[in-house]
Amino acid sequence: MVPFAPFTGRRCRQPDEGPASAMSSEKMRGMGLDIQFEGAGVNFGARVALQPLTLGINGKRIGVIGLNGSGKTTFARLINGLTKPSIGRVSVNGRDTSDEKAAMADVGFIFQSPQNQIILPIVRDDIAFGLKRRGFTKAEIEAKVEAVLARFGAEALADRRAHELSGGELQVAALCSVLATGPGILILDEPTNQLDLKNRALVEGIIAGLDESAIVITHDLELIAGFERVLLFHEGRLAADAPAAEAIARYREIAA
Ligand SMILES: Nc1ncnc2c1ncn2[C@@H]1O[C@H](COP(=O)(O)OP(=O)(O)OP(=O)(O)O)[C@@H](O)[C@H]1O
Ligand SMILES: [Mg+2]
Repeated sequence: MVPFAPFTGRRCRQPDEGPASAMSSEKMRGMGLDIQFEGAGVNFGARVALQPLTLGINGKRIGVIGLNGSGKTTFARLINGLTKPSIGRVSVNGRDTSDEKAAMADVGFIFQSPQNQIILPIVRDDIAFGLKRRGFTKAEIEAKVEAVLARFGAEALADRRAHELSGGELQVAALCSVLATGPGILILDEPTNQLDLKNRALVEGIIAGLDESAIVITHDLELIAGFERVLLFHEGRLAADAPAAEAIARYREIAA
């Protein structure tokens, strides 16, 4: 086993939902990622899910890898405020994610299990749901729903029942629902989990083509193999923060 010192001092970033924030998504897209962890850690009772972490994230694509239970999802949930730090602070574009709902408005999160993400029975209604919450008019909502379906070539899914969709179709529907609201940052938690080769390629292509900044958590190492920056978590600590080849090599050492 190779010893891994915690990383400090590099850069990271963040997502979410809620009312429109002061900074537009268009502006955020132009800026790319801007997430800061300042000694942010998470405990669940006596269990330490994430050791206090200080780093910043910027850039268009960030990969996150590590063994099961190493803290990846906890790290991601801190970014969009779904999990609050037990200690320290996480900010996105200078806004604290634990006490400013607006800070989360520009981060979309695709959950590890997309079936937990789709709220309404019909795909089109689910895509519209997040837009209604943001106060768009009926005409605006219809236009945005059609636009996001067209963006992913997913028009045929619009009137399908979400619970009848295949895993890959569900991944695409979840992407449509999240991206319809125009987040500048997207977090995808194991987006190719359980997908066949064809749907995996579809999702890989979608990620590659995103204008949005993306944080991709995955056990599918090929998916992040081209990323310039990959974070490796191990036992709740950041064990590597490096280009994909280096982070993956360290991951293989850990897993050996
Ligand atoms: N709500 C919770 N209550 C208690 N413990 C939790 C909770 N959420 C996560 N944990 C624990 O925190 C640790 C990190 O979990 P996390 O979900 O971040 O791991 P992960 O790296 O995403 O793993 P996986 O690859 O299996 O998805 C694990 O030991 C997990 O059991
Ligand atoms: Mg996880």
